[in-house]
Amino acid sequence: MKRFHWGLLALAIVACVVAAWIIYVPGPTAFASGSTVALGDYKGTNPTGVPVSLASGDIVKRGEYLTRAADCEACHTAKGGVPYAGGLAFNLPFGTLYSPNITPDKETGIGNWTDADFINALHKGIAPDGSRFYPAFPYPSYTLLTNDDVLAIKAYLFSLKPVRQETEPNSLAFPFNQRWGMMFWSLFYNSNERYRPNPSQSAEWNRGAYLAEALGHCGECHTPRNLLQAVDNKKKFAGAVTAGWRAYNITQDATSGIGSWDLDTTAKFLAHGHVEGLGTASGPMGEAIDMSLRHMAPEDINALVVYLKSIPAIADTSLPLPKTMLASGFPTNQEIAENARGAMIFAGACAACHGWSGKSPILSYADFVGGRTVNDPTARNVAQAIIWGVTRHTPNGVVTMPGFGKAYSDEEIAAVSNYITARFGAEKSRITAADIKTIGKQASQ
Ligand code: HEC
Ligand code: HEC
Ligand code: HEC
Repeated sequence: MKRFHWGLLALAIVACVVAAWIIYVPGPTAFASGSTVALGDYKGTNPTGVPVSLASGDIVKRGEYLTRAADCEACHTAKGGVPYAGGLAFNLPFGTLYSPNITPDKETGIGNWTDADFINALHKGIAPDGSRFYPAFPYPSYTLLTNDDVLAIKAYLFSLKPVRQETEPNSLAFPFNQRWGMMFWSLFYNSNERYRPNPSQSAEWNRGAYLAEALGHCGECHTPRNLLQAVDNKKKFAGAVTAGWRAYNITQDATSGIGSWDLDTTAKFLAHGHVEGLGTASGPMGEAIDMSLRHMAPEDINALVVYLKSIPAIADTSLPLPKTMLASGFPTNQEIAENARGAMIFAGACAACHGWSGKSPILSYADFVGGRTVNDPTARNVAQAIIWGVTRHTPNGVVTMPGFGKAYSDEEIAAVSNYITARFGAEKSRITAADIKTIGKQASQ
C-alpha cells in the first residue's frame, strides 16, 4: 500500500513538472549569454528612448518616434479609418474584439486618462476602472518600456486631434468575456518589469533588443504561443499564424529562417519591406514596415539587425529553401492540364502586373521570385494577399493591388493560389476552397 502512494506521489510530481514546463515561458532575451542588470545599474549607452539625433527634441517629437516604433497605429485604426480612432476588428476563435479609440477625445477616447492610468494600461494591462485588458493589446511587450518612453507616447497621442468615435463592444463568448480571468494570466505572463540590459552584449545589441521586444513587439506575431496563448520564448521567433497570416520563421536558420540574409540585406528588408530576389512584405508585415519600420533612423534599423542576427536558429521543416530561379516561357501544356482554372485567372487578371517569369515587368515590388510567400507550401499568405489586396509605400510612392475576395469564388482563389506556388515556388500548395473561407475570416478587418 505504501509503495502505491509513493508511486502516485512520483506521478503527481512528474505531472506538475510537465505542466510547469508547458506553462513556463523564459524572458524575451533569456537566450543570450551573460546576465541582465537593472537599467539604473547599466554603465553602457542608454538603450531606451529615441536616437541621439532626436534626443534633444521636445516630448511630442520623441513620442511620435516611439509611437511609430511601437506601431500603435496598426491596431488602433480601422481599415480606411481615422488613425488611432480604433475600431479594427480582431476575429478571434471565440468572438470579435475591437480596438478602442486612443485619441484624446474625452468621451469616446482616452482624453480623461492621467499619466498613471496610461502607465497602468501599458505596463500592467489594467484599465482606469480596474478591469483587465486582453493580451490582443500587447502589454506584455510594452511592460518593458521605461516610464519616460510611455509618457512620451502619451504626450504624442494627446497632441492629436480628438476624434469622437465610440468603440464597438466585443462579442466574446463566455467564459472568454470574463475579464477578471486575465488577472491570473498576467500573474504568469506579464512580468511587469522594465527592460533589463545585458552588459555582456554590445550597446547596439541592447538597443536592438529594446526596439524588437519593448517597442516593435516582433515576437507577438513571429513567436508561437503556448496553450494559454502566451508568447512561448522557448521557440523564439520560430514563426506563427497571426490574424490569419503566417508570420514566418525569422530565426537564423538558413533554410526556413533568415540566416542566409547578410546584414545589409536584412537592414534593407526591414527598412523597405522589399529586397530584389527576396520578395516583398505584405499583410501585417507590410503594415509594420509602412507604419513603423520605414520611419526608423538607420542606426536603429542596424541595431535591430544586430539583435536579429543573434537569435538562435530553429528549423521549421514545413518551409523549403526558396526557389531563386526564374520561371521560363509561357505555361506548358502540362501546367495547364494540372490547373487550367488557375492558369487562366493568372493570365487574365495577374500576369500584366506580376509577369510570367516571377519578375514583374513593371514594378519590382510585384516580383514573386525568391520570396518566402510564394515558397510557403501552405499558400496561406498568397491567398490572403489575393483576398484582401495589398497597399504598400515604396520609395517611389504608393502601390496597390486590388483585393479579389469579392470578384472571385473561393474555388477560383484556391486555384490561382495553387497556380502561383506551383509556378514560382519550391513546392506546390494544395489549398482548398474550404481553407480560403476559413483563413479569410481570420484576418483583422
Ligand atoms: C497588436 C495590436 C495592438 C497594438 C500594437 C497596440 N494595441 Fe492598444 N489595444 C489593442 C486592443 C485589442 C485593445 C483592447 C483590449 C481589450 O479590450 O481588452 C487595446 C487597448 C488599448 C488601450 C485601452 C484603451 C481604453 O479605452 O480602454 C490603450 C490606452 C492602448 N491600447 C494604447 C496603445 C498604445 C499606446 C499602443 C502603442 C504603444 C498600443 N495600444 C498598441 C491592440 C493593440
Ligand atoms: C503584426 C504582426 C507582425 C509583427 C508585429 C511583425 N511581423 Fe514580421 N512578418 C509578419 C508576417 C505576417 C510576415 C509574412 C509577410 C508576407 O507573407 O509577405 C512577416 C515577415 C517578416 C520577415 C520576412 C521573412 C521572410 O522569410 O521573408 C521579416 C524579416 C520580419 N517579418 C521581421 C520582423 C521584425 C524584425 C519585426 C519586429 C520589428 C516584425 N517582423 C514584426 C508579421 C509581423
Ligand atoms: C495592378 C497590378 C497588380 C495586379 C493586377 C495584381 N497584382 Fe498582385 N501584387 C501587386 C503588387 C504591386 C504587389 C506587391 C505589394 C506588396 O506585397 O507589398 C502584389 C502582391 C501580390 C502577392 C503577395 C506577394 C508577396 O510576396 O507577398 C500575391 C500572392 C499576389 N500579388 C497575387 C496576385 C494575383 C493572384 C493576381 C491576379 C488575380 C494579382 N496579384 C494581380 C500588383 C498587382
